[in-house]
Amino acid sequence: ATLTIDTKTVKAKVSPKLYGLMTEEINYSYDGGLYGELVSNRVFMDRFGVTRWFLHPNGAAEASMEIDHKEGPSAALTRSLALTVTKASAKDWAGVVNNGYWGIPIRPKERYKGSFWAKADSTSVGPVRIRLINNNSGQEITTEGVSTPLTTEWKEYQFELVSGTAPASQQNQLILSVENPGKVWFSLVSLFPPTYKDRVNGNRIDLSEKLAAMNPRFLRFPGGNYLEGDHINERFEWKKTIGPLVDRPTHPSPWRYHSTDGMGLLEFLLWCEDLHMQPLLAVYGGYSMMQEHVNPGPDLDPYVQDALEEIEYVTGSTSTKWGAQRAKDGHPEPFHLSYVEVGNEDWFDKSGSYDGRYAQYYKAIKAKYPDLQIIATTTVKGIKPDVIDDHYYKTAEEFYAMDKHYDTMDRTGPKIFVGEWATREGGPTPNMGAALGDAAFMTSMERNSDLIVMASYAPLLVNVNAGGMQWESDLIGYDSLSSYGSPSYYAQVLFNEYLGDEILAGTAEGAPTRFHYSATRSSQTGVIHLKLVNGSSEPQTMTINLTGAGKVASTAKLITLSGKTLGETNTLWEPTKIVPVETEFKKAGEKFTYTLPAYSIHVLELQTK
Ligand code: AHR
Repeated sequence: ATLTIDTKTVKAKVSPKLYGLMTEEINYSYDGGLYGELVSNRVFMDRFGVTRWFLHPNGAAEASMEIDHKEGPSAALTRSLALTVTKASAKDWAGVVNNGYWGIPIRPKERYKGSFWAKADSTSVGPVRIRLINNNSGQEITTEGVSTPLTTEWKEYQFELVSGTAPASQQNQLILSVENPGKVWFSLVSLFPPTYKDRVNGNRIDLSEKLAAMNPRFLRFPGGNYLEGDHINERFEWKKTIGPLVDRPTHPSPWRYHSTDGMGLLEFLLWCEDLHMQPLLAVYGGYSMMQEHVNPGPDLDPYVQDALEEIEYVTGSTSTKWGAQRAKDGHPEPFHLSYVEVGNEDWFDKSGSYDGRYAQYYKAIKAKYPDLQIIATTTVKGIKPDVIDDHYYKTAEEFYAMDKHYDTMDRTGPKIFVGEWATREGGPTPNMGAALGDAAFMTSMERNSDLIVMASYAPLLVNVNAGGMQWESDLIGYDSLSSYGSPSYYAQVLFNEYLGDEILAGTAEGAPTRFHYSATRSSQTGVIHLKLVNGSSEPQTMTINLTGAGKVASTAKLITLSGKTLGETNTLWEPTKIVPVETEFKKAGEKFTYTLPAYSIHVLELQTK
C-alpha cells in the first residue's frame, strides 16, 4: 500500500483554533473536580437535605443537627445547617463533619485557606474550632483554626490550616465544633488548597496542568445540557453566578446533583485566561431539555437581551454597564470573544422552534456585535448560520467508517464546529481502542480543517468515585487526590502538539481498512507532521511518497502511542500505562517504507527544505 503526500500542493490552511475544550458541570467536573473547593454541599441548598454532613458529638457531648430552611446568610443563600448543642465542654466538644468529595485531600506542608458564615443564638456559644482529622489515625493533620466568638448576626469567619509532614492522603475530614451549649447556624463552609496560578476561588493544580498540556485554543462553556437545564428555571443563569459567593443562589444541574456555581461566568473566563484559551460562549437559547421552549417573538426578547448583556459582560469596556460589573467583580480588562453559540443540541426540541429562536438571537447579536460568529446547534432554514455544531459519540469502527465524511463535503455551506465528539469505548475513561478511533477521526478533521474550524472532545472530566460519574467515557479521570489522562487524552495532546499550519494533499492507495492518515506542514520550518493510525490487529506496511519534497532528513522524530490490546487503558493506579513514546526513525526520505504495528498511532516529524 502506498501513501502519497503531494508536498507541492497546499490544500488549505489548518484552522489555528482546531483543538479546544468543551466543558460543563457533569461527572463532578467542577464541584468535586477542577474547582478547588474541598468541602462538599457547602451551602445546604441541595434539595436532598443534609447530604455529606455528619454530627460529631465528642465524648459526653450532646447535640443534634438539621437543615434550617428559614435561616441563611443572604437573600441568595436562604438555608443553613443548624447545630443545637445541649451539652459540651472543651474536652467534649460538639461539631459537624464534612468528608469532602469522597475524601478531603491533604498534602504535606501546604497552606489551606478556609472560611464559613455563621451566627449563634447567644454569644455564650463562643468561637468555632476547626480541625482536619485523618480518618484512619484519628490524628489532627494540620494546625487547628479558631474563629473569633460568634455573634447573633450572620458573619463571615476566615481561617488558615497548615499541614505537617504526614504523607499525602485523602481519608480526612473537616470538623467545625463548639465547646458550649447553644445553637449555631452554618453556611458557605469552604476550604481551598493552593490553586493553579494562585487564583482565589481558583482551580485544582494537577487537573489544570493536564488541561494546559493539551494546549487548547478555546473553551466551550457552560454546556452541554448544563447550559439548558432540565427546565427553563434550571438553566445556567449567568447573572446568578457572578459576584461574591454568598450572593450566588446555586442551582440544580441536569446531571442529578446541585451546582455551587463557584465556577461562575467570571471563573470560566479566568480559566480561559490562565490557559491562554479564547472563550467560546454558549448562551441560553430558549430551550430546556424537558421539551420546554420559549416561543420566538416577544416572549424570547428578555432571553436575547440577557445574552447581549452576557456578551457585554465578557467583552464590554468598563464604560458599559456589564463591563463595569465585570470590573467590579475584579477584572477590568475585557476578554476577546469570536464565537457565540446559541443553545445546545436543539435538534431535540420537538416543537421545531429553533429556526425562529436562532434567527432572533442571530439578528440581535449581529446588530450589536457584527464581528461575532454565531454558531447554530443544528441546521436552520431562512438564515445561513456562520457555523454549525456537529456532535459525534461513536464506536471506533463507526469513526473508521466516517473517514471520508468531511473529505467530500460541500464547502459553500456554514463552517463546522465539532463541539462534542468521542469514541465511547472503555469507562470511566476511554481505552486504547477508543484512542485509535479518536486518532482516526482527528486525522479526518485535520485533513478538512479548512471546513472544521474547531473541535472539542466531550466530556472532559470525571470524578471516578462511585456516584461521581453520570457519563461513561471521559477524557481525564481523578479522585480527590490524584488524576490521570486516558489514552484518548494522550492522543489529543499528541495531535495538537504537532499540528502545523498547512494541509497537504494526499492519497492512500491499496491501504488496508483501519489505516488513517493526515499530513500537515509548518510553513516556517518546513517540517511535515505525518500522522498515521493503525486500528487493526495486524501490522501494516506502507510505502510513503513525499512527492516534490526533494531532500528529506533521514532521521525523523517519531512519537508513538500504542497498546497490546484494544482494552488496555490508564487508571488511577496505572496512570501512565499508555503514554506517547518519543524515539527516532532513521530511514526517512522522499520515499520510504514504514511499518505500523497493530493498534498504534504515529507522528513522524519529517524535516524538508
Ligand atoms: O457530553 C455529554 C452530553 O452529551 C452533553 O451535555 C450534551 O450536549 C450531549 O448530549
